[in-house]
Amino acid sequence: MTKGLRKGLTSYGDAAFSLFFRKVFIKAMGYSDDALDRPIVGIANTHSDYNPCQGNVPDLIESVKRGVLLAGALPMVFPTISIHESFAHPTSMFLRNLMAMDTEEMIRAQAMDAVVLIGGCDKTLPAQVMAAASADLPTVVLPTGPMVVGHHRGEVLGACTDCRRLWAQFRAGNKDEDEMAQISSRLAPSVGFCGVMGTASTMACIVEALGLSMPMSATAPAPHADRRRIAEASGKRAAEMAIAGSPKPSELITEASVRNAMIVLQAIGGSTNGLIHLIAMAGRAGVAFDLDTFDRLGREVPVLLNLKPSGAHYMEHFHYAGGVPALLRELKPLLDLNAPTVSGATVGDVIAHAEAAPDHDVISSLAAPLKKEGAMAVLHGNLAPRGAVIKHSAASPQLMRHTGRAVVFDSVEDMMARIDLPDLDVHAEDVLVLRNAGPRGAPGMPEAGYLPIPMKLARQGVKDMVRISDARMSGTAFGTIVLHIAPESAVGGPLAIVQTGDRIALDVEARRIDLLIDEAEIERRLAAWKQLPPHREPAARGYAKLFEQTVLQADQGCDFDFLLRNGN
Ligand code: FES
Repeated sequence: MTKGLRKGLTSYGDAAFSLFFRKVFIKAMGYSDDALDRPIVGIANTHSDYNPCQGNVPDLIESVKRGVLLAGALPMVFPTISIHESFAHPTSMFLRNLMAMDTEEMIRAQAMDAVVLIGGCDKTLPAQVMAAASADLPTVVLPTGPMVVGHHRGEVLGACTDCRRLWAQFRAGNKDEDEMAQISSRLAPSVGFCGVMGTASTMACIVEALGLSMPMSATAPAPHADRRRIAEASGKRAAEMAIAGSPKPSELITEASVRNAMIVLQAIGGSTNGLIHLIAMAGRAGVAFDLDTFDRLGREVPVLLNLKPSGAHYMEHFHYAGGVPALLRELKPLLDLNAPTVSGATVGDVIAHAEAAPDHDVISSLAAPLKKEGAMAVLHGNLAPRGAVIKHSAASPQLMRHTGRAVVFDSVEDMMARIDLPDLDVHAEDVLVLRNAGPRGAPGMPEAGYLPIPMKLARQGVKDMVRISDARMSGTAFGTIVLHIAPESAVGGPLAIVQTGDRIALDVEARRIDLLIDEAEIERRLAAWKQLPPHREPAARGYAKLFEQTVLQADQGCDFDFLLRNGN
């Protein structure tokens, strides 16, 4: 098999010349013939001054390189796009597929026999796994690791569940600007991804559960020496895989490993974004994702992990309690133990070597779980014909069954303009509705589903309300929030025809979200909606146009239709 520098030659119509030409240029970097004869491990460099969640990437690259060299291969670092949540306009989800395309094509275009993908912030790990599944080259995924916790006036803090909680206190008038300035220096006290069970942590756990990263990769804190050792081990393993030519992502992302990942997603109290990304990653590998199976698992698999926003602790505490391998041990009766992992061990082997850390309340057992059901439920009903999701592990139990009057916002802009008006006609028992915030509608399905409690209600002490939308929300958020309604309103989903004053019923136990008007009226309104002009001008050119024309709905992972394997 062609390996190393001889792979993927640039086409000049003369293969020997192409190799000679390549060597001429790469030797400008001082490489010897011995080095250039070795199998090559590519290392994706996602470092960016805009991305503190990946601020330790240069250090990790050094450790990965050491591992690659120890195993006799040649490391070669290449850049790809980097996406940070707070520096991605209009929203990071808009760019995930672009990063996936960039990463896939750079893996394909450049000579490498295996690749280490280093990512951390929310969209980066899913984009990289989507790319890896499509390129199908032996891949080790290396998360950058969670940040450490911060401290403020005796409280332990972590981005970004506590960002939202403290911001809500500020909005309610319980904190002043000086204290908020102090808090803003303490919520993210180190590089690394958010230290709660938000989307980044969720994705790191899912990637480890899928068998795509080395054991303990999800949880070792970004500045911790363990993280550098895991990076070295990842490089070493990638070099072995470069020499052996396996395992490839197609051998690891299977029906069995996706089911294991669904179980972990439910048991960790994972982010709702994690569901969209898992669907997209499975889709790239040609593995069908069944939302009903995911929902059924949610009834069988309890939340075991006591991490914010569903519980009390942070990612570093999860690491010290044994990390994902220790969690998998508790989930053992539910998992496929024969699923292979990138380390060469099966899931069963990983469990057998899991650390036993006594006397903690971070990982609970199946017999005494944190919550008796899983993190998420998939809802259906006349408002969500193709499904919607609620993270009920981080919602108010008293609102799990609720009927209320709709208060409708037509877009994110409309919501921002009106939600805090003193004369907004809204009451605590109403249902806040946001539409035109889905994959095409916004575009990019922003994390606007966490509608703020209207100022006048927040000041009365209202902490939660039922909120529904076709948007996403941050995995770090807490609230009774129905998301990802599909089809979205911008393509004519029923959310488009809800009117302020309609009644909406949520019943999580029955997995229902319904608009309480009769079928004939729904049909009449949908027919009238079709006559309306679109709520915004379509994109005229470029990536925005590609996105708008090809993005799939949330129940299909929001990938582009032409990127799925076998068109599934
Ligand atoms: Fe990057 Fe939270 S902002 S992981």
